[in-house]
Amino acid sequence: MQLLCPVSWPDYQLVDCGNGQKLERFGPYLIIRPEPKALWTSSVPYREWTDRAHIRFAQGSGLGKVGKEDSGTWEKLKKVPDQWIIRYKKLFSLHLRLTVFKHVGMFPEQAPNWDYIYRSVRRIREKEPQAVPKVLNLFAYTGASSLAARAAGAEVVHLDAVRQVITWSHENMELSGMSGIRWILEDAFKFVKREVRRGNTYQGLILDPPAYGYGPEGERWKLDDCLYTLLQECSRVLAGKNAFLVLNLYSNGYSALLADSLVRQCFSGKGNYTFGELYLKDDHDKRLPMSVFSRLEL
Ligand SMILES: C[S@@+](CC[C@H](N)C(=O)[O-])C[C@H]1O[C@@H](n2cnc3c(N)ncnc32)[C@H](O)[C@@H]1O
Repeated sequence: MQLLCPVSWPDYQLVDCGNGQKLERFGPYLIIRPEPKALWTSSVPYREWTDRAHIRFAQGSGLGKVGKEDSGTWEKLKKVPDQWIIRYKKLFSLHLRLTVFKHVGMFPEQAPNWDYIYRSVRRIREKEPQAVPKVLNLFAYTGASSLAARAAGAEVVHLDAVRQVITWSHENMELSGMSGIRWILEDAFKFVKREVRRGNTYQGLILDPPAYGYGPEGERWKLDDCLYTLLQECSRVLAGKNAFLVLNLYSNGYSALLADSLVRQCFSGKGNYTFGELYLKDDHDKRLPMSVFSRLEL
């Protein structure tokens, strides 16, 4: 079991967490957001947080669906632009924006997965210098994982069900000085089933599915009901050698062992399996668990 957190990333910092909230720095701006898993008391009093912060997410009012844990409004405590840019190592850059559901367009705990994706594509390219590895990123959101794969030289297919996040990913690609990513606006399940029928295969598969979601034509995604079957279909599109898969799960309290068991069963136990948790560490050494992952290397 691996426990991984972002390292050497000047543009992101978890400053403190506690009392159901976290104080983070994204580039030059400090943001206070709700964090249900921060069950303890913050290391620094909240008054000091608000003195330092540029923006705060006030829960339960205004935008978003009333009654939903993530709904609320952003309150600017200092002068802040509506959009700004952060860089991830020498790999890519991302536009950040204040979205309706307390997110800014990037999940910082995913950094170890981006590094893994980059390394995996490089590994495959070293083994097969003549071929360009193909990577499929499902539930791809604003595209950080797609950019990590592209930066390493993969041919990338980026799929999401929401047009606005595909547009955002496209902007992130251009901002990062890259090109050539193929964008697919479709239900993840539907696309993978079609790829199985077409006999297409990929050297890299990336999945970061939500608890609930909808495809562009109203196709219903429910993690509990759909994940196992989707992984079974995925096992039919992953290349048989020089290939990798990353499954990330951040909802329903799913454990790392569950992620590993699912992947092992769907991929018949062939290859090297690793699994673990992604966490963020604050400036006071408190570790905040954020998601779990399972990885397969063939
Ligand atoms: C939390 S995000 C994944 C985060 C992303 N992997 C990252 O680290 O940047 C989940 C994404 O799944 C997409 N989604 C939800 N239901 C979907 C479906 N049925 N098919 C494809 N994408 C879907 C959402 O639009 C959202 O962008």
